[in-house]
Amino acid sequence: MAANFLDREVKHMKFKWRWLVTMLIVGLMVTGSLVGLGQSRYAKAATKGNRTLIIYFSMSGTTKQAAQQIQKYTGADIVRLQRATPYPKGYDNYAKVADRERRQGTHPAIKRNLPNLSRYDTVLIGFPTWWQQPPMVIHTLFDDYDFSGKTIIPFTTSMSTPMKNSMSTMRQIGQADGATVKNGFRYDDNNAALKKFLRKNHLLKSQQ
Ligand SMILES: Cc1cc2nc3c(=O)[nH]c(=O)nc-3n(C[C@H](O)[C@H](O)[C@H](O)COP(=O)(O)O)c2cc1C
Repeated sequence: MAANFLDREVKHMKFKWRWLVTMLIVGLMVTGSLVGLGQSRYAKAATKGNRTLIIYFSMSGTTKQAAQQIQKYTGADIVRLQRATPYPKGYDNYAKVADRERRQGTHPAIKRNLPNLSRYDTVLIGFPTWWQQPPMVIHTLFDDYDFSGKTIIPFTTSMSTPMKNSMSTMRQIGQADGATVKNGFRYDDNNAALKKFLRKNHLLKSQQ
């Protein structure tokens, strides 16, 4: 009788332990997968943050400043577009060469220094407005690189010409390459306006 009772108690204890151990394992598995989920979300966010690229062309530094300001607000990668053979130094000298390119429709060779574009979904392309238009190196950029499937957001700096004057050219060369070209932005040192524009395009870093 006593042996029978002892046997039942032992069985009961064993069942309790098994139940406890099972619950512990299930608990650990649930916690593990939640942590994993959190991590994969974080990884995705990190990748997403890196999927915007700024490409800018600048001769006297104004568009470079605009590009750097955009970089600060977006956290995007940034690269400078350069003519393979640099323009001659001095405003009159490079303006003369650029004017000839414009009149003759030349697409001057550019340096092949861009990162692999397949890493990016959105590309901000910045340039000084020259004779109401993007400089001819912007045409070469689209000749040499594949922007298909990407969202292009142009930006410019100028004495006074608005962004919209360059938009039809940007739409034309972007769409010919299979890209979607969004309305661009003219930067005139107004950082509040720049932030507003970037926020509207979902490009502003969360802490900005
Ligand atoms: C060759 C040339 C043509 C220009 N054409 C225009 C123009 O049509 N409209 C305008 O508002 N500014 C014009 N500008 C002024 C530039 O767009 C402006 O100074 C720009 O911010 C320079 O940018 P960067 O310093 O990045 O080279 C021209 C400048 C140059 C050198």
